This record gives sequence, C-alpha cells and structure tokens, in this order.
Amino acid sequence: MRIAAAGVNIAQTLPKKEWPMPESAPQTALIRESFDELRSRLAPASVNFYNALFARAPHLRKLFRDDLAGQGMRFMSTLGYIIENINRTDELTDRLSEMGRIHAIMGIRAADFEPMGEALMDTFREELGPRFTPEVEAAWRAAYADLSNRIIALGEIS
Ligand code: HEM
Repeated sequence: MRIAAAGVNIAQTLPKKEWPMPESAPQTALIRESFDELRSRLAPASVNFYNALFARAPHLRKLFRDDLAGQGMRFMSTLGYIIENINRTDELTDRLSEMGRIHAIMGIRAADFEPMGEALMDTFREELGPRFTPEVEAAWRAAYADLSNRIIALGEIS
C-alpha cells in the first residue's frame, strides 16, 4: 500500500463532502487512539521519524536545520493539532493554507510528501508494534494522503 501521490483523489476512502473526516467515522477514533499512544513518546518518536525520512530520502536532509529535535516536535504537534480539530473545516483550512504557503516558499515539492508519509508509517509501526493494525494503517494512509493533498493544493506546491 502506498501513500497517494499529489492530486490523487481518495474519495474511495473518505467522501469529499465529508472532509476533513467525520467525527463519528471509525477511522477518526483509530487515528486519535494511535496518535495518543505516540504522543506519550513524542520526543523519541520524532527522532525516529526523521531518521526514517532521511533513510528513505537522503536528499531531503539538507532542507532541514542540523538540530532536528525542535523541528520533529513541531511536525508531530501540528499533526496532533490537526487530528484534534479534524472536524473544524474552516480553522483547519486556514492552518493548512499557511503550512502550504510556508512549505512552498521553502521549495518543498509535492513528490516529497510521499517519503514523509512513509516515514510516518515506519514510525507508527516501530512505536505501536502489533497495535499498528492494517485498519489503523489504512486510516492513517487515507488521512495523510488527504492532508497532504490539501496542503499541496492550498500552497500551490508543484
Ligand atoms: C503533512 C505534512 C507536513 C506537516 C504537518 C509539516 C509540518 C511542519 C511544521 C509545523 C513546520 C514548522 C513551521 C514553522 O516553524 O513555522 C515545518 C517545517 C518544515 N517542513 Fe514540514 N510538514 C509537512 C510536510 C513536509 C514535507 C513533505 C517536507 C519535505 C521535505 C517538509 C519539510 C519541512 C522543512 C524543511 C521545514 C523547515 C525545517 C527547519 O527549519 O529545519 N515538510 N513542517
């Protein structure tokens, strides 16, 4: 299973009109529960996340500052914010627009979102072990693909 590339519509998993994700959707609960588990180990999980990213895509290392500790936490805490507010479309759209704009300015490419998503899956797999079930993984892949596509579209990232 692969992270959907930029522009791919994941309507098969989440109907578009129900974006970001219905509060009641079973995926929402799976995502929140698994993220809560990661949250309890946020610092080491963040380090693992960047290690996994640079193992998959070494060319991305130069885009990041040397000291990644703070950056890792920002990525993870933003992810946390997004899942907490998963149903508040207006607020999320503002935040995702801002992130799209910042990432576009930094020269991030749409293709870079794929290794990032895979690194996130690696991190969950490592941290959750058998609790990272196929259902939890599918929920995260759908959510990450949707989130990425929105950041890419709102930031006009190519
Ligand atoms: C869902 C996807 C993503 C989220 C939630 C996210 C989140 C963030 C956040 C919150 C920041 C900090 C912004 C600030 O300081 O104001 C950031 C910075 C950054 N992001 Fe992302 N990001 C995502 C995708 C990506 C991708 C695909 C790349 C590609 C390599 C990337 C590369 C960077 C870089 C290079 C920085 C600046 C790092 C530094 O200052 O050392 N991000 N990101």
